[in-house]
Amino acid sequence: MRSSKSLMMMNKLSLFMLVATLIWIGGTNYDDHVMAAADSTMDGEAAAAESNIWCVANYSTSDQALNDIIQYVCGQSQMDCSPIKPGGSCYEPNILYRHASFVMNRYYQVNRQPHECDFSGHAVNITWDPSCGSCYYDRKYK
Ligand SMILES: *[C@@H]1O[C@H](CO)[C@@H](O)[C@H](O)[C@H]1NC(C)=O
Ligand SMILES: *[C@@H]1O[C@H](CO)[C@@H](O)[C@H](O)[C@H]1NC(C)=O
Repeated sequence: MRSSKSLMMMNKLSLFMLVATLIWIGGTNYDDHVMAAADSTMDGEAAAAESNIWCVANYSTSDQALNDIIQYVCGQSQMDCSPIKPGGSCYEPNILYRHASFVMNRYYQVNRQPHECDFSGHAVNITWDPSCGSCYYDRKYK
């Protein structure tokens, strides 16, 4: 009787530890995200060192500029733009901003120099993975 009671105490304690650990892990992840966001605004080079940088279009870029960027990037011989063509993994959502962002990131990942994420000032680097559904944004291309 006594031992089964202490067993229950143990189980309660384990459950408590588990919940406490999960809360702690959740909190840590949250802090990491906040830290990463701070890094990206305060120290681009530190964020680059973590090699978790993606290059996408600034949201306020005009359709004309987005089209020009796609033309430019996809005109480069080493660029495979098939993912944004009909049937490609990044065709949906069929939104110009998304298509441009995909090819800009692919272009940037070729050598990951800060000046490669510029596109006449229409690019922004971000520290969260913009991949969505079947569309995988390169972390490193070739
Ligand atoms: C996006 O472009 C707008 C308009 O040119 C500019 O004001 C804004 O600062 C840009 N955003 C970033 C994150 O560069
Ligand atoms: C990211 O953007 C910031 C601000 O424009 C810039 O200073 C930094 O060099 C960029 N980092 C990379 C790796 O492109």
